Amino acid sequence: MPDSKPPNKAIKVVIVGAGSVGVTTAYALLLDGLASDIVLIDIDRNRALGEVMDLSHAAHLHKARVRVGDYEDCENAAAVIITAGVNQKPGQTRLDLVKTNYALFRDVVPRVAHHAPDTIIVVATNPVDVLTHAAYKLSGFPRERVIGSGTAMDTTRFRHELGKHFGVNPRNVHAVIVGEHGDSQLPVWSLATISGMRLRDYCTAANIEYDDKVLEACATRTREAAYEIIRRKGKTNYGVASVLVSVLQPIVTDSDAIMTVSRVGSYAGVDDVALSMPCKLNRHGAYQDVPLLLNDEEKEALRKSAQSIKDVITSLED
Ligand code: 2OP
Repeated sequence: MPDSKPPNKAIKVVIVGAGSVGVTTAYALLLDGLASDIVLIDIDRNRALGEVMDLSHAAHLHKARVRVGDYEDCENAAAVIITAGVNQKPGQTRLDLVKTNYALFRDVVPRVAHHAPDTIIVVATNPVDVLTHAAYKLSGFPRERVIGSGTAMDTTRFRHELGKHFGVNPRNVHAVIVGEHGDSQLPVWSLATISGMRLRDYCTAANIEYDDKVLEACATRTREAAYEIIRRKGKTNYGVASVLVSVLQPIVTDSDAIMTVSRVGSYAGVDDVALSMPCKLNRHGAYQDVPLLLNDEEKEALRKSAQSIKDVITSLED
């Protein structure tokens, strides 16, 4: 893990939403030492205060402080993470949450943008691609400064699954999931490598059987992971919180890391939609000048993913 310790200067991160993802993200930030000032904003101020009182007893690990705040505290924040909203119940898809969470974004995002016109908004609330697009429209920010955690979560899960299968550390598996952070996501098999070799070549060189069905099962477990976790524990929080910290690291340290995050753009012929592709992240936001050579099958899958998100965005504008 690259040293995520920022230069010794005040780094404020605001988290809107003190639910399980928000407070787990605050905790992960405290353990990482990335931010020196963590502010939690929540409509239930008393519960947020209880979370902050508890979190502050973990602040001894690094010179950091964690506190309850309000939208005025977004001023000069390096990033504002929006986790507020309802989350999936067993059997629900992420897209089922759109009406409730879009209504909440119409209140929250303008307030963030007013108090922190130069910050970077990081969206975690689902459906994250639709709400990344909504945050872009509602904030008036340039699109590079409105980032959704998107398939950074799925790419992390995918590398975990492939690492388990091949017996290597997930950090040594270069494979990405792009498109919707949801059911229409797509694994980019054509570019997946281990030790610089495409998976089929790696299997040949390592004398391992290349089994399409086993690899497809890795992608299926990746896509279904949240449903399986929610069915058992009612929510997800640790994985997404760790991914939010890994999205913040290159922003705070200005380190040009490439991650699959959600951003507004044009994809496979579908305009004005947000979905995840490899982006370069630094203190200015997320930039898409990272090429991804998809084959024709992957391009069509990306187009379908983009269109399914676009249809939901259009339904909100009706
Ligand atoms: C996740 O994938 C539910 O989007 C959340 O963990």
